[in-house]
Amino acid sequence: MSETLLDIRKMELRYGAAVAVRDISLCVKRGQLVAIIGNNGAGKSSLVRGATGLVRPSGGEVVFKGEDTTRLAAHRKVARGLVMVPEGRLLFPDQTVEDNLILGAYAHGGLKGEKARAALDKVLALFPRLKERLRQQAGSMSGGEQQMLAIARGLMGEPDLLIIDELSLGLAPKIVNQLMGVLAELNRAGLTILLVEQLASYALAIADHAYVIANGRVAHEGPSAELARNPDVMAAFLGKKKHAA
Ligand SMILES: Nc1ncnc2c1ncn2[C@@H]1O[C@H](COP(=O)(O)OP(=O)(O)OP(=O)(O)O)[C@@H](O)[C@H]1O
Ligand SMILES: [Mg+2]
Repeated sequence: MSETLLDIRKMELRYGAAVAVRDISLCVKRGQLVAIIGNNGAGKSSLVRGATGLVRPSGGEVVFKGEDTTRLAAHRKVARGLVMVPEGRLLFPDQTVEDNLILGAYAHGGLKGEKARAALDKVLALFPRLKERLRQQAGSMSGGEQQMLAIARGLMGEPDLLIIDELSLGLAPKIVNQLMGVLAELNRAGLTILLVEQLASYALAIADHAYVIANGRVAHEGPSAELARNPDVMAAFLGKKKHAA
């Protein structure tokens, strides 16, 4: 059986009096692609911010690679291999593509010199489009290219687990399909991924296992193929775009 990388146990997360996450448990094993789906305001981002340490959970535990990291600062978790591509990408728009990538390496454990160069070469081999645009300002690229850059920046930290919050945000369906294909490929090559996504059918098409979050709780959980056939789950996403493939 493969190693459990991320084990969230009974997490609770509050913003003042407002409870965003109530008693959520979730598990990601090495090699898996796990999806978290759920509508607007369900608590998906709060859950992963709690997991990465960007927001301190008010209850429960976040165990990463067997270590209780609940109270560990976000940058320390990054150094341990827990990297997130945040909702909205948060690139440095005035900096070049190359600088964004190098900054990613710095933030993700301080790769420098030769090591940073080697990580950069590896990432650019995966994303030739970024290689062509190395000297271009990140903010001048298309939304899809910027999301690609955000993923590439995350990979610069050589993560054990890459969390991606809302891959599809602001992107056309064709681009979302392309990027989902990139994630599926990265996963096949061995990367463990936790994908947060409002467009449920896209995420279920590439994930092994999925959690449906509603009102800060897990409403459903199971193999993606099963959830995609579950009428209750699909009813919750009526009106959302269906995956074409
Ligand atoms: N910084 C914050 N301060 C106060 N309340 C917040 C904050 N961030 C989120 N919330 C609230 O917490 C709840 C969960 O929000 P969250 O962003 O986690 O949902 P989400 O599932 O990621 O939604 P979306 O699909 O819109 O990204 C919502 O009610 C939201 O208004
Ligand atoms: Mg969100």
